[in-house]
Amino acid sequence: SAAEKGGYDYFMLKEIAEQPKAVADTLLGRIDAAGSLTLDEVRIGAAELRELDKVVIVACGTAFHAGLIAKYAIEHWTRLPCEVELASEFRYRDPILDPRSLVVAISQSGETMDTLMALRHAREQGSKVLAICNTNGSTIPRESDAVLYTHAGPEVAVASTKAFLTQLVACYLVALYLGQVRGTKWGDEIRAVIRDLSRISGAVERVLETMEPVRALARSLAGKKTVLFLGRHVGYPVALEGALKLKELAYMHAEGFAAGELKHGPIALIEEDLPVVVVVPSPRGRSVLHDKIVSNIQEIRARGARTIVIAEEGDDAVVPYADHLIRIPVTPTLLQPLVSTVPLQVFACELATARGNEVDQPRNLAKSVTVE
Ligand code: AGP
Repeated sequence: SAAEKGGYDYFMLKEIAEQPKAVADTLLGRIDAAGSLTLDEVRIGAAELRELDKVVIVACGTAFHAGLIAKYAIEHWTRLPCEVELASEFRYRDPILDPRSLVVAISQSGETMDTLMALRHAREQGSKVLAICNTNGSTIPRESDAVLYTHAGPEVAVASTKAFLTQLVACYLVALYLGQVRGTKWGDEIRAVIRDLSRISGAVERVLETMEPVRALARSLAGKKTVLFLGRHVGYPVALEGALKLKELAYMHAEGFAAGELKHGPIALIEEDLPVVVVVPSPRGRSVLHDKIVSNIQEIRARGARTIVIAEEGDDAVVPYADHLIRIPVTPTLLQPLVSTVPLQVFACELATARGNEVDQPRNLAKSVTVE
């Protein structure tokens, strides 16, 4: 009913709008007054966490994209090797697991059969399983050793939005917590990022306030057949997520690429007026990445692409090559997906509407996939 949708036309729009609160709620009570993480729910003892020799993340769809981003954070802050695998592929290749592997299963619903089977396989090998889940008491957390709940509230739209942002928050918390417990040379950075994270919901709010031009752009592209998405570093999984949203909602051909792979094949797809969305890493910090992507944008534009550039406020280097420029707030490099994903959600939702599609219930899809 209209009331359930809180005045929005679709649950998806309501859920996109709820993201600042969902992010804040997922952080609530998990950062103490001294600025350290207190994740009591992670009932795996500090000694055991110190003994770990790798982290393995299993998930499907959008949750898998959260896992891909988590890998950058976990490896950076903990120096533990981290693998990320589609849950549906995982157990069939006889993965190497033992009691020193921490398996993280990410699932909004907690009922995804592929993810459940992957975690059962991991437990049979003696690994500890930590679930990141949005649904209290669902099967995946019940069968895991510990659970870190995302506090997104119920997500009704089939296309995941607020659950994804809160999965990212939970993944950052796990990465920072492992770093905190295990002690790495990044202690100061970890404390600074915990501080940044505690303020990030305001940045998500600011992005939402500036989405009208993104909606207008989406409407103008309703007749297109293909949209490509490019990113580097944590922007690469964001590109994959932008493409998945477009497939699910707009039923358009969409693909995400690592920008550095362009010249190894995908650049052959570029043709006159093809819309290409590029997620630009921060010019601060890992500035090499930024400079490389700016030349990627130049290259595709020279070949006729219509460039839609998502870049930080104040990043002037992209301006000459952007046919459309979408600004996002300045954020620490690893946290950028929390703000760069939002315009892609709005873009896909508006394109779906413009094409007359059912936003909350895309064809052929179910909210939770309980078969393998
Ligand atoms: C997201 O927009 C999708 N509908 C889908 O990819 C989803 O993320 C996937 O099926 C995993 O679901 P889960 O998080 O409930 O396990």
